Amino acid sequence: MAHIISLINHKGGVGKTTSTAGIGAGLNLLKKRVLLIDVDPQANLTRHFGLPKNSDKSIYGALKGEYPLPVHEIKKGLDMVPSHTCLVGWEKEVSDEPGRESFLKAAIEPLASKYDYILIDCPPSLGYLPINALSASQSIIIVVEPSAFAIDGMGNIFNAVNKVQSRINKDLTGCKILITNFFSKKVLHQDVESTLRENYKNQVFKTVVRTNVALEEAVMTGVDVFTYDSSSNGAIDYKNVCSEIIKEKQWEKVLKAV
Ligand SMILES: Nc1ncnc2c1ncn2[C@@H]1O[C@H](COP(=O)(O)OP(=O)(O)O)[C@@H](O)[C@H]1O
Ligand SMILES: [Mg+2]
Repeated sequence: MAHIISLINHKGGVGKTTSTAGIGAGLNLLKKRVLLIDVDPQANLTRHFGLPKNSDKSIYGALKGEYPLPVHEIKKGLDMVPSHTCLVGWEKEVSDEPGRESFLKAAIEPLASKYDYILIDCPPSLGYLPINALSASQSIIIVVEPSAFAIDGMGNIFNAVNKVQSRINKDLTGCKILITNFFSKKVLHQDVESTLRENYKNQVFKTVVRTNVALEEAVMTGVDVFTYDSSSNGAIDYKNVCSEIIKEKQWEKVLKAV
């Protein structure tokens, strides 16, 4: 059965989509069968891989139960479920529906045995779309950019995750923290990294993803960073993150906010 992992942070622009693409493509290079699911109405991951942002069949219709998850092949062993801009109204549409936190879990279930990893790219909120992602996942990767307020936001994320774990999804036990867009010469970045490592110990990936222009350029050309430039720092860093993911047998438990 697939290890289902949500990439989450209620802040935008911290590298969730870039990391979903980088880790997905990296795991695929390591011969794992990977499914990427875009549940962000902005559909950035969908467009990153050259799929139209408003396909006839998308995560939107699948969440409404109109059809099974529509899976597109990006390359052999790397599939994706595209998003749709209509998803922006989905949380309101289902606000009166019972079980609205578990629609994604139900949609994923028939596919889970076909993959080694399913990665869910979350929107920048803690609303019902990311709650659906958490309800379907065994693990999360909190993607953090080393900004001045990065540490403050961690408490909100852990609160949401712990509520989902205790009320909806007891299987949600794994948690790793990934530092992205890291520039080693910035003292602020060094400080944020040390604080995160002090607070969250082994939960923080040993690898930090450095600021690297190839990651931005890969998006513009519609391919993953390994295809774009396999010798770039971005490709090297995400490959190392993937090695850590594969080696990690026991993901650290989801912690209470520190
Ligand atoms: N390590 C990095 N180096 C350089 N640019 C990055 C890096 N990670 C992300 N970016 C850029 O930062 C912007 C926001 O990243 P994105 O992954 O879309 O964030 P999110 O999904 O959290 O909103 C994008 O333009 C992306 O190309
Ligand atoms: Mg995004």
